[in-house]
Amino acid sequence: MKTQKGWTVTFQPGGRGAVVKHGTSLLEASRKAGVALTTRCGGKAGCLMCKVKVEDDCAAALKPPEDAEQRKLGSLLEEGVRLACQAAVWNDVTVHLPEDPLKAAVRRRLEAAKRGEEDELW
Ligand code: FES
Repeated sequence: MKTQKGWTVTFQPGGRGAVVKHGTSLLEASRKAGVALTTRCGGKAGCLMCKVKVEDDCAAALKPPEDAEQRKLGSLLEEGVRLACQAAVWNDVTVHLPEDPLKAAVRRRLEAAKRGEEDELW
């Protein structure tokens, strides 16, 4: 819900959020929320390190992607992936952050171990 101060952006997992002005980028919102999004290009759609995912029902909460973002993401846009540095907030939105690669590797190995596949992974 838009407050007098702006739109609410919620980051998952964790549920951290921030209220931002209309048109604020998700990257700026993440910094305001204290959520770490690593970047290398300074927010110029160059590094693709700021990829986030929005759910279908939240797609209209962001400014539609412009040419640079469309070129960089291609068909990923159809899966709800956006570049946080390019996506401007136009409404309340929930954003899913990618899982940390190290944590993802550990999680996959633990899941494989539960299935009895640990020899194949180590
Ligand atoms: S910060 Fe590099 S692509 Fe978004």
